[in-house]
Amino acid sequence: MSDDRKIIIFDTTLRDGEQSPGASMNLAEKLEVAQALADMKVDVIEAGFPISSPGDFEAVREVARQVRGPVICGLARCNEKDIDRAWEALKSAERPRIHVFLATSAIHREFKLKMDKNEILARAIAGVERAAGYLDDVEFSPEDAARTEPDFLCAVVEAAIKAGATTVNIPDTVGYATPAHYANVIRTLRERVPNIDKAVISVHCHDDLGLAVANSLAAVEAGAGQIECTINGIGERAGNCSLEEVVMAMRPRHDYSQCSTNIVSERLVPTSRLVSNVTGMLVQRNKAIVGRNAFAHEAGIHQDGMLKERSTYEIMRPEDVGFTKTDLVLGKHSGRAALADRIKHLGYHLTGEQLQAVFEQFKVLADKKKEVYDSDIASLVENQMSEIPESWSLVSYQMHCGTGGIPQVALTLARGAEQVTETVQAGDGPVDAVFLAIEKITGTDVKCREFRVHSVSMGKDAQAEVNVELEKNGATFRGRGASTDSIEASARALLTAINRMLATQGTPLHPQYTVE
Ligand code: KIV
Ligand code: ZN
Repeated sequence: MSDDRKIIIFDTTLRDGEQSPGASMNLAEKLEVAQALADMKVDVIEAGFPISSPGDFEAVREVARQVRGPVICGLARCNEKDIDRAWEALKSAERPRIHVFLATSAIHREFKLKMDKNEILARAIAGVERAAGYLDDVEFSPEDAARTEPDFLCAVVEAAIKAGATTVNIPDTVGYATPAHYANVIRTLRERVPNIDKAVISVHCHDDLGLAVANSLAAVEAGAGQIECTINGIGERAGNCSLEEVVMAMRPRHDYSQCSTNIVSERLVPTSRLVSNVTGMLVQRNKAIVGRNAFAHEAGIHQDGMLKERSTYEIMRPEDVGFTKTDLVLGKHSGRAALADRIKHLGYHLTGEQLQAVFEQFKVLADKKKEVYDSDIASLVENQMSEIPESWSLVSYQMHCGTGGIPQVALTLARGAEQVTETVQAGDGPVDAVFLAIEKITGTDVKCREFRVHSVSMGKDAQAEVNVELEKNGATFRGRGASTDSIEASARALLTAINRMLATQGTPLHPQYTVE
């Protein structure tokens, strides 16, 4: 144990993770995730890229203001405007970090930046120096480092450290590296950069070849001290190194890694579910560590072995990563305190008002369903969090449909005190008819790019959860809805997405339904 090295866990779910298509989160969702990451004791939270949009700026600023414990980091390109904006967002953090990046590989230099090596060096130094003028904790990333010529990479890293970088991150931006290659890059930097001991070497791997976790572990073995990763491995393209996998790989195999982290591993499953719920990105059943089947033993021989001695087929215990023995928790007689306790366990932080609203919905659901599972509760909380004030909500719908006939729906929506009813007889089926009625009332005309239904828990009376993704003017908007009635869940999902769209793009003035 005396040789144990503490590896810094840098979570970029809110920045690189949020860049994955369809994973965008609103401010309340980002704050929930940031708080859950702090509860799990990640060392650094990369909260966003402040210059990239007003929404990202606000998210970084609020995480910096509200979340205590981890270092809060904001991303910036190597230019004054980006760095100043990042500092503006981060300045109220307890421990702020600015992360500046600039591509260094020949491909990026020639085709993207159109800059030569000297210009890159000068720009990197200027960027780090500007950030270091604001704070002591500066990270520098030579983007596409894994494809950068070793001599030039060493020169840039040395210059960045001299200019004030306290962490040098070595990204495998395009997921090109293999474990032996990547470990060699880290070893080369340690051997050839004279001031390398003045900075922490960080690794940032993408999963294009499915090697992000393996590459990160190889880099740690070669001397890296920080791993950049995301919950559920979400991120650009095939994603980033998965936090839960890389952290757990160092735990049962501590004999080999001789490394540990500060992560509270029991928070891994709740945090994974939270991120999956807020992003609408489902976790595959057989996903290592947090997938539903990760600890399910199906084969008779395995079950027999497990009954005799669990270590025959389990290298870690499900409870170590946050699976509870059963997630059947509440029923219609459960009170507010019990619900509040489950919500806290699931990683959500609600205000008293939000808790009251969820409690009321919980009572309605518990009346319809005998057994209320953690996943049902998470779904209710998500419904509450995705509500946008002053927006359309579903009041009721009546439907007539059947095989061979044209469906007919009478649907009523409310916005403020106003209620509007539309009757539609059209569509391919009941969901299409409901969507047409909603589009008519809200005055929108959207393209539905994705429509997914799945069961929130188990049993015939399980809630259906619907996720939709809409496209309008090149932007995408996600919505989710849950109900024991799958048509109602579809209507709610579409309305959430439309409300998000209207909040961003403005409400169209529908001649018939304009509400004063
Ligand atoms: O993949 C990458 O290179 C990045 C950098 C901004 C660190 O995400
Ligand atoms: Zn990245």
